[in-house]
Amino acid sequence: MPPGPLDHAEERVRSALDALLRDPAEGWPEMEAAAGGLEAAGRAAIATAQTPEELDATELRLLKQKGVLNLLLRSVGQLPAERRKPLGAATHRCRAAWGAALEERRAALGAVATRRGPALDLTLPGRRPFTGRPHILSQVRDELVEIFHGMGFSTYEGPEVEDDHHNFGALNFAPHHPARDAHDTLFVEGGVLLRTHTSPVQIRAMENVPPPLRMVFPGRVYRAEQLDPTHAAEFHQIEGLYVDRGVSMAHLKGTLTAFARAFLGAHTRTRFRPSYFPFTEPSGEMDATCVVCRGTGQVGTAEAPARCGACKGTGWLEILGCGMVHPNVFRAVGIDPEEWTGFAFGMGYDRIAMLRYGIRDIRYFLENDLRFLEQF
Ligand code: DAH
Repeated sequence: MPPGPLDHAEERVRSALDALLRDPAEGWPEMEAAAGGLEAAGRAAIATAQTPEELDATELRLLKQKGVLNLLLRSVGQLPAERRKPLGAATHRCRAAWGAALEERRAALGAVATRRGPALDLTLPGRRPFTGRPHILSQVRDELVEIFHGMGFSTYEGPEVEDDHHNFGALNFAPHHPARDAHDTLFVEGGVLLRTHTSPVQIRAMENVPPPLRMVFPGRVYRAEQLDPTHAAEFHQIEGLYVDRGVSMAHLKGTLTAFARAFLGAHTRTRFRPSYFPFTEPSGEMDATCVVCRGTGQVGTAEAPARCGACKGTGWLEILGCGMVHPNVFRAVGIDPEEWTGFAFGMGYDRIAMLRYGIRDIRYFLENDLRFLEQF
């Protein structure tokens, strides 16, 4: 806004004040004129306010703490005794004149009732701005990571585009292992591929961080799958790795059972079955009691029992693969398997999220349909 009459009047008062303080006798006539000009400019500003809001703003401007009127009042004390009265009187004239003018204008604008702000219905509900939320899979991932953080694991992440060495070779996959085939793995070019599991991040972590190590690796993985309600080409895993001196199978079972109880409920029981993975020896799979039927294998009522669909009546759900880190894996990253031992595990959490929330098709996760996403 360009300076208006009020700005000019204020400016004139400021310079008159300087002169007055320099020489109280010489400066007074100019101050008297300037104070009169300020009073008039203030009244004019009040008279031309068009709305109660504008009038409020003008009042604030005229009477504010750092305004010219206050400046004058504060300066009175710096004048010799016989000069104080006239300046004090001039400021009070301004204040009185503006006070009357404000009252009059306010009445004229019919604004007496709106002094405390515009009409406002405090009983109306507020308007909530649109906010997003974490994707359901991010929520599940955060929950998983949180549980492992509580047990002293930190998070480490690796790339989704991997090389053959990290995804397979260093993990002790044989050269002609079927997972290395284009039927199962999405290749980019020249031995570069989309990681088929989060296990390569174990290798990257051990290459970069000396033992002892306690880490989880969440992330997206890719496989050349035939798509159906339980198979997607992109899905999600969380991997864990614990390397230290004297780590045993007992640590593995204790840690993963504690995890299962934290994530699925305190009543959860676990069982470990032998299995095979190239990068662990021995290898196993952990089952937990079914979250739907609580391990009974049955749903429905006592009169009309039905087989639990989630666990196919077995009472058990396959949760994760696990095992003791294979010595060849340690050798591939230059860790001495005679000194260090460790356990590892990996689980896909899309399926666990589906069970927990009753989601029937894994493809919903990545379709970005708000009708689906807004439910979580
Ligand atoms: N990488 C395995 C998979 O994608 C899962 C797995 C099994 C990870 C055992 C592990 C493990 O760390 O010890 O099927």
